[in-house]
Amino acid sequence: MKSALQIARAAYQPKLPKALLGNVVAKEGNPTQSVDNQEEIKQLFPNTYGLPVITFEHTDAAQPAEQMNVGVILSGGQAPGGHNVISGIFDGVKSLNPQNKLYGFLMGPGGLVDHKYMELTSEIIDEYRNTGGFDIIGSGRTKLEEVGQFESGIKILRELGIKALVIIGGDDSNTNACVLAEYYAAKNYGVQVIGCPKTIDGDLKNEQIETSFGFDTACKTYSELIGNIQRDCNSSRKYWHFIKLMGRSASHIALECALQCQSNICLVSEEVEANDMSLDDIVTYIANAVAVRASEGNNFGTVLIPEGLIEFIPAIKRLIAELNDVLATDEAKQVARENQVDYVKSHIAPENLAVLNSLPEDVALQLALDRDPHGNVQVSLIETEKLLSRMVDKKLAQWKAEGKYVGKFTAQHHFFGYEGRCAAPSNYDADYCYSLGYNASRLIANGKTGYMSIIRNTTAPAAEWVAGGVPITMMMNMEKRSGKMKPVIRKALVELNGAPFRFFAANRDEWAKNTCYVYPGPIQYFGPSEVCDQTTKTLQLEQAH
Ligand code: FBP
Repeated sequence: MKSALQIARAAYQPKLPKALLGNVVAKEGNPTQSVDNQEEIKQLFPNTYGLPVITFEHTDAAQPAEQMNVGVILSGGQAPGGHNVISGIFDGVKSLNPQNKLYGFLMGPGGLVDHKYMELTSEIIDEYRNTGGFDIIGSGRTKLEEVGQFESGIKILRELGIKALVIIGGDDSNTNACVLAEYYAAKNYGVQVIGCPKTIDGDLKNEQIETSFGFDTACKTYSELIGNIQRDCNSSRKYWHFIKLMGRSASHIALECALQCQSNICLVSEEVEANDMSLDDIVTYIANAVAVRASEGNNFGTVLIPEGLIEFIPAIKRLIAELNDVLATDEAKQVARENQVDYVKSHIAPENLAVLNSLPEDVALQLALDRDPHGNVQVSLIETEKLLSRMVDKKLAQWKAEGKYVGKFTAQHHFFGYEGRCAAPSNYDADYCYSLGYNASRLIANGKTGYMSIIRNTTAPAAEWVAGGVPITMMMNMEKRSGKMKPVIRKALVELNGAPFRFFAANRDEWAKNTCYVYPGPIQYFGPSEVCDQTTKTLQLEQAH
């Protein structure tokens, strides 16, 4: 059973850049370099390093039309538009030759290793056009990094006659895509690997990638909810809402929502780190804003908290770095789970132990124990919004006793993350994702491997978007992961000298003190272009400079 919107939306034809409408020719730029550690990256990726950036242009010459099959994997957290990437790949490969087949590997990279797959036929694809979610084939976080996995993968790729694999993922998954591309190229296996930039977190972007897909829709969904909350608290005038927003490391989502909603307070983890703020500094900053509003009779407001905040507080960051090293040792891996906290406590430096002991027990446990398969702290499980409001409450009580604060503080808590990751893609994400997928088919047809599909100039109308590919090695540097130096795509954090943050910083004092709320309302799929096709404020501000 489908909703009325789903039925109407299925008929939406995503827009493509003009350059992709007919046959294309790949224009190659100059050889490229990785963003850092050039020598190390070059040695690790001898076959995929230094390749040129590619731009597709229209040509009247015929496209390669020999029959080929393509595989696709959805990797990591869901992001709106994934189904459109897949339908774009499907339409792209079928346009080259109707005999071409698209296979989806099930439940993430693990499907390739375990040979779990399905053929994606036009009946299946049509069911999923312009819908949110990754449920067409499912997603997973299995890390593709071992030769055994690559070898298991090639068996099924050969069996299905797959010439190229598209991995739709974030920075970690695209790093793995590049490692796989290099391995298959080094072995001369004849299978190409192409990446697509996905993540609601918005942190897979750089000179070549304007934004990762899903960021637009997720931020619009959260901003609708925050706007509704702001209207509620402006109506009853009795609650402070502490709203944690997803974004494992970078604060792009929180910042974008603050720009859309003009919330009273928005913490930006990158600034917390740059200013060497402690947990107490953050609490004092919030409590001050609460007290100022209370002095004018406004005992309500909104505080946006990026999910990754805790990891950016320098003292806690040092603690996590040491915990990661300790947890990565073979000895630590042998320790029973119930003894792990005691084990790490006896293996870390005294200053880090003091920080660990100063944290509430539940937070300390999260930091000291669980990691995801990529070695990341699972920040979405840490209830920072409750931790901060508890501490603000305590500070205000102390100020009240000292006669420094008059007011009433009652907090409500929210965590917005999963609510937005599978929303029906906005027009922007529907078009952008379809273009990314269609473009990936052109990279494949042109024999490219180790490339990420890119679409640029996206604040312009879709017809003017620029399509092409960027070598994944170009975005890499060496970073410590699970205790070892590894080549990884550099994460794009919020830049404090970037236009979005500077705009926020110039306005935040006014937004904190006064009630300047904006209520963005729900995503609109039909209607005037200025309502339906608006990009994020982040992108608008970035592209305006
Ligand atoms: P990706 O980087 O894989 O796109 O995932 C992003 C994210 O949604 C983060 O915002 C969040 O911290 C994490 O996934 C949650 O992961 P999980 O879905 O495994 O709970």
